[in-house]
Amino acid sequence: LARGATGPDLAGRHVVVSAGGTREPLDPVRFLGNRSSGKQGYALARTAAARGARVTLVAANTALPDPAGVDVVRVGTAVQLREAVLKAAADADAVVMAAAVADFRPAAYATGKIKKKDDQEPEPIVLVRNPDVLAEISAGRARSGQVIVGFAAETDDVLANGRAKLARKGCDLLVVNEVGERKTFGAEENEAVVLGADGSETPVPHGPKEALAETVWDLVKARLA
Ligand code: CTP
Ligand code: CA
Repeated sequence: LARGATGPDLAGRHVVVSAGGTREPLDPVRFLGNRSSGKQGYALARTAAARGARVTLVAANTALPDPAGVDVVRVGTAVQLREAVLKAAADADAVVMAAAVADFRPAAYATGKIKKKDDQEPEPIVLVRNPDVLAEISAGRARSGQVIVGFAAETDDVLANGRAKLARKGCDLLVVNEVGERKTFGAEENEAVVLGADGSETPVPHGPKEALAETVWDLVKARLA
């Protein structure tokens, strides 16, 4: 039986989870990255598998062991993550975007290592926008009834920013975390509010990332056709 009292209530479902953080290369040895560890996404994948779902985990630059019984697709950049998520989402019942996707990438990639020159200031780094994967999959549901979940890390006006983001993205659920210097990134525990497009608001008290994952799947399940 699954963890907790839930049982295999996602049997017959295919779910896609993205996890980790994208890295946007500048040259062969350097990248722009973020602090996402992937732990929340892996907890979501493990939990869904334990509840009987077929799980595709799109993992961006994580240093975590592959969860048992989960299809893991490894990606590096936001563009690669988009490809992998769109492909896996084609026949998915639900997509949960727990990955921290870089909003921007360097406009240029240097094929050789960028070298410093004694008599010159460094070149500024020019950025261009990455595709917004969550907005894209929300706008074009691969299949009617697909449930789409986003994550948002906010430092200020957490709920107001979360509501605005949920509307902007067009997803069904948005898990909003408050982040700060020592909160969330890399931590074992999490605290969040899950906002629903239907106006619902589900607080999840401070606790293990598995507990938040279970709540997310409960809310997804309630919205599956
Ligand atoms: N996301 C995405 N593609 C992007 C950026 C974000 O799919 N290029 C997804 C993330 O996986 C997450 C959600 O969108 O599920 C919210 O990410 P967040 O960075 O909070 O939202 P942004 O719209 O990028 O807003 P902000 O300016 O606050 O970073
Ligand atoms: Ca962002």
